[in-house]
Amino acid sequence: MSEAMQRVRGMRDILPEETVKWQRLEALTLALMARYGYGEIRTPVLEKLALFTRGIGEATDVVEKEMYAFEDRNGDMLALRPENTAGSVRAALNAGLAGVQRVWYMGPQFRHERPQRGRYRQFHQIGAEAWGMAGPEIEAELILLCAAFWRELGLAADEVQLEINTLGTPEDRAAHRTALIAYFREHLAELDEDATRRLDSNPLRILDTKNPAMQDLVIAAPRLSEYLCEASQQHFAQLQALLDAAGQPYVINHRLVRGLDYYRHCVFEWTTTRLGAQGTICGGGRYDGLVEQIGGKPNPGVGFAMGVERLLELAAERLDGAEPPHLYVVNAGEAAARNALRLSETIRQQLPHLRCVVDCSGTGLKSQFKRADKSGAALALVLAEQEAQTGQVGIKPLRGDGEQIVLAQDELIDDLRQRWSQ
Ligand code: HAM
Repeated sequence: MSEAMQRVRGMRDILPEETVKWQRLEALTLALMARYGYGEIRTPVLEKLALFTRGIGEATDVVEKEMYAFEDRNGDMLALRPENTAGSVRAALNAGLAGVQRVWYMGPQFRHERPQRGRYRQFHQIGAEAWGMAGPEIEAELILLCAAFWRELGLAADEVQLEINTLGTPEDRAAHRTALIAYFREHLAELDEDATRRLDSNPLRILDTKNPAMQDLVIAAPRLSEYLCEASQQHFAQLQALLDAAGQPYVINHRLVRGLDYYRHCVFEWTTTRLGAQGTICGGGRYDGLVEQIGGKPNPGVGFAMGVERLLELAAERLDGAEPPHLYVVNAGEAAARNALRLSETIRQQLPHLRCVVDCSGTGLKSQFKRADKSGAALALVLAEQEAQTGQVGIKPLRGDGEQIVLAQDELIDDLRQRWSQ
C-alpha cells in the first residue's frame, strides 16, 4: 500500500453508519448537560507544551511517554492535547471566567499509547469541569451526572461500577510519600525496573503497577488513608454520606491513584467488565491546585472525562440504527434527470421532514432500482423518459406489497403529504 494511503497507527476513521451513533451520543450529551446547567466549552487541540508539563505533571506517563509534542515552525514547543482539563482551565483563565462555573466539552484527545481494543492514539472524551466550589457536593453532583448518563444510555445499574478514593491534600501526600519511599527502599530487590525508576520521582504510581510479582508488596505498602489530616477525612466522609443519601452505590478503592498529578481529595472511576482490559469508561476527581499551577489565582476545581469510543462500544445497540431515506428517485435520460433534481428540491423545501435521495449515477434503471432497494427507502419515485415527457412521476413502494401508481408531477407533493402527514 502506498504510504499516502496508510492511516496513522492508533487513529480511526468514523464512517457514516457509525457516525449515526456518535450523533445520538452527542445529542444525548447536549440535552443532559443542559439539564444540569453546564455550558459547552471548545478549546484548541493544540496547546503550549508547558501547559501539560506544568498542569498534568512531568513524571506522569501521559507527559513522559505519551504526548505528541513537537517544535513548530516558529520554534514554539507545542503538543496535541492528551486531555482537556488543563486546556479548559487555561481557557477560563484567559477569558477571566471567575467564581462558580460549570462547563463541559467533547472532542479528540491524543496519546501515543500502544493501541488495542478500546485504546487509541486519537480518542474522544466527553468531560465536565466545575470551578469555584470547595465542598464535596459538587463531586457528588458530577458523579450523579455520570450515573444519569449511564441511565440515558440504557446501561443497567450493575453494568457499571463506581470506585472512589481520596488522595488527601499535598501535605498528606508528602507524609505518605516519605513513608512509601522508606518502605520501598527496604524492599529494593523486589522492585521491577519501572518501579525502581519511579521510586524517587513518583512512588505513588508504583501502587498502580500491573506486575503480578509486585502485588503482595504493593498490598502491604503504607496506605495514604493512614496519613490523611482531619479535613481530608471529613471531605471524603461527606462525599460518601452524599452518595449514600442519593442512593448511589460505590466501592472504596484505596489503590485508585489516577494517572494525572493534579488530583487531590476525591477521585473516582467508573468501570465495566464488559469491555475487556480497557474497562474504565470514565475518570475524574478534584484538582484544587491546578489553577495556581498554571498561573491563576487559587480556585478549586472538580471534573471527569469519559472515553467516547468505550461508551459507544458499550451502548452500541442502544445508539444504533441509521435512518433510511423515505424516497429514492430513479431517473433515466436528460429530461428525467432535470425533473428529478427539480422535483426533489421541491420535496425537500415543502416537506422538510422527508429524506429524499436522488440517483445521480447516470446508470441504467435496473441498477438504480437495486440501489434504491439497498438504501432502505420506503418508496421509489420513478422518472423514466416517458414520465419526463408526459409530466408524470411513478411511485413504487419498495417495502410491503403496495401497487405502483403514476401521478401528474404537480400532484406529487399532496400525495406525499398524505402518506407522511405530520
Ligand atoms: P483519564 O482517566 O486520563 O482522565 O481519561 C478519562 C477517560 O478517557 C478514561 O477513563 C478512558 O475512558 C478514556 N481514555 C483515556 N485514554 C484513552 C485511550 N488511549 N483510548 C481510548 N480512551 C481513552 C482525564 O483525561 C482527566 N482529564 C479527567 C478529568 C476531568 N479529571 C478532572 N476533570
